[in-house]
Amino acid sequence: MRIEGKRLSIIVLISGNGSTLQAIIDSIAAQTLSAEIKAVVSEQADAYGLERAEKAGIPTVVVKVRDYPDRNAYDRALDALFQDYQPDLIVLAGFMRILGTDLVKRYYGKLINIHPSLLPRYPGLNTHERALKAGERQHGTTIHFVSEELDGGPIIAQEVVDVLPDDTPDSLKKRVQTVEHQLYPKVLSWFAAGAVQLIPDGVKIIGKLLKNQNDTCKIKRGC
Ligand code: GRF
Repeated sequence: MRIEGKRLSIIVLISGNGSTLQAIIDSIAAQTLSAEIKAVVSEQADAYGLERAEKAGIPTVVVKVRDYPDRNAYDRALDALFQDYQPDLIVLAGFMRILGTDLVKRYYGKLINIHPSLLPRYPGLNTHERALKAGERQHGTTIHFVSEELDGGPIIAQEVVDVLPDDTPDSLKKRVQTVEHQLYPKVLSWFAAGAVQLIPDGVKIIGKLLKNQNDTCKIKRGC
């Protein structure tokens, strides 16, 4: 349970570049997000995101899959970290491992992810390539609670990005990420305000706690 007036405490799980992590760090520094990153956890020892965390003075932990005999042992190591840090929220930001069912069940409602597509379209990998190949006119990003179904948990927020005629997977990815870097800190600020509720039908964002009513999801699913 979060204590009123206290900063939202989070841990961020990454695998690579960490540009999303950077956006969260920058929002905290700019005081547009009242949160504290207790630790950054990476499943890759050479993830550039670890350098970003260290530069910001945030403790880092590397939990490599190949250091554990099996998936359950790996999940137990993550669980131990979650218990150590006791965060209000576990934020997946480009974390490329699928978490086991038991772990996901245990932390349901506390685990959120950002996925680069307008879910339920294009769960899984290579979303930009697949959206372009399918001739989509619109693409985008989704922030959702993590459930046992891959990229299938209740949606908290989505933002649409128009596909341009000359888009390549890279150019589209760049524009999607620009939007992601604004949307994730914004959604975290909703959590910090206690405005996000997981309800049986999906997710409710309590409008009166938001400064701007337009902050609610562009695609009104669960809002
Ligand atoms: C983001 O596009 C996110 O949607 C996806 O992974 C990317 C993370 O990039 N899950 P970065 O490591 O934060 O730069």
